[in-house]
Amino acid sequence: VVLTRNVIGRITTPPPLLPPPPHIRQLSSDILPWNMSSKKLSSGHTVEAVEGEELEELKRLFPGQMIKNGLIRLQPNGWFFQSDYIKFGDKLYNFKLYPTDVILMTYPKCGTTWTQELIWTLRNNPDLNNPLADKPFEERVPFLEADSLGHSHLLDTMASEGTNPQVELLSQVNPEADWRDGVNWQLAEAVQHPRTIKTHLPLELMPKDLLNTTKVVYVCRNPRDCIISWLHHNRLMKGMSFAGTLDQFIDLFLKEKWIYAPYSTHINTAWKLRDNPNLLFLFYEDLKADILGQLKKLNNFLGTNRTEEQLKNVASHSSFPEMRKRSYESKGLKVGQASDRYNKEVHDKDGGFFRKGETGDWKEKLTPAQIATIDRYVQEKLPDFPFKYSV
Ligand code: A3P
Repeated sequence: VVLTRNVIGRITTPPPLLPPPPHIRQLSSDILPWNMSSKKLSSGHTVEAVEGEELEELKRLFPGQMIKNGLIRLQPNGWFFQSDYIKFGDKLYNFKLYPTDVILMTYPKCGTTWTQELIWTLRNNPDLNNPLADKPFEERVPFLEADSLGHSHLLDTMASEGTNPQVELLSQVNPEADWRDGVNWQLAEAVQHPRTIKTHLPLELMPKDLLNTTKVVYVCRNPRDCIISWLHHNRLMKGMSFAGTLDQFIDLFLKEKWIYAPYSTHINTAWKLRDNPNLLFLFYEDLKADILGQLKKLNNFLGTNRTEEQLKNVASHSSFPEMRKRSYESKGLKVGQASDRYNKEVHDKDGGFFRKGETGDWKEKLTPAQIATIDRYVQEKLPDFPFKYSV
């Protein structure tokens, strides 16, 4: 059934939304099994609640709604998530994959959005004539674990008001699906094959057979630029509204206590598997330095057999200015207008989601002391990792 559903082709006749639950505001706590301190997940990880002063400090630093349900660590490795992850972890670990799937895996802010456009266009739109290319990313490249990112309160309210496009989309592609069980993983399940699916989950939390079943493209970015971009994202998004300083953010990143941490283990596990024929390890900096060369690698890896001309199409369609322009247009905005998910002052001062799209911004933003602090972490945790700091 899943294989024959076509998400994108059926969006014109939406069935009505599911009726909202009676007590919308309480929904999140109803569906999330909070009392999970001894819970063992299918991945073998144990859940540990973030509590006390550590939690209070994070709540002060991130006054947005996204950590309202609490935070957890998964042991071993201390994978850091919103508590909402508990509800979805087993579903994600047992997510059914197919040989035609491509999984795009990254630590946040390492070039996910760019690479997802590169892969989707390479696979589906090499002549730039596919009308589905205008569809938003959620429809073309579902974000596997997005349900676990503390959005449930937004989803509850928006769905009750009938204004959540993802809930609407899910009800179109799978009328039997209940959005309260999570929208994004169910969208990922239902989209048309061959699927391209995006995740920031580390390999440890993905299905055990991932690399025996499907292809994985892993993109890494140097930690100095990653920190700058991740800080911006956390300030920009209303759900997080980071209110601290750059020093405080660096400290959280290096002490591995913010969502998706630890960066070091995330990239190191993928790096160790770089010779696996089903994993392609890419660097953001290489994409910036030589996009055609990197597209050739992707073309070989995915077996897409595109011509040089088609690779050039993919590169120009996915360039920073083009993607930035389309991202505003897709929301009916002019370039430079904020979306309602953004903190407007941050957007107007420092840029939107498509902020700069360069490598080496750390040279302007980090002091020598901050660089030294980051380098100490790298030396300790990733001593032999061949980071690239400029192009
Ligand atoms: P900056 O904040 O440094 O500008 P992700 O998609 O993983 O969240 O990564 C976001 C980073 O990739 C942001 O970096 C963003 O501007 C950059 N980016 C997005 N699209 C890009 C593109 N087409 N080319 C280059 N960089 C891009």
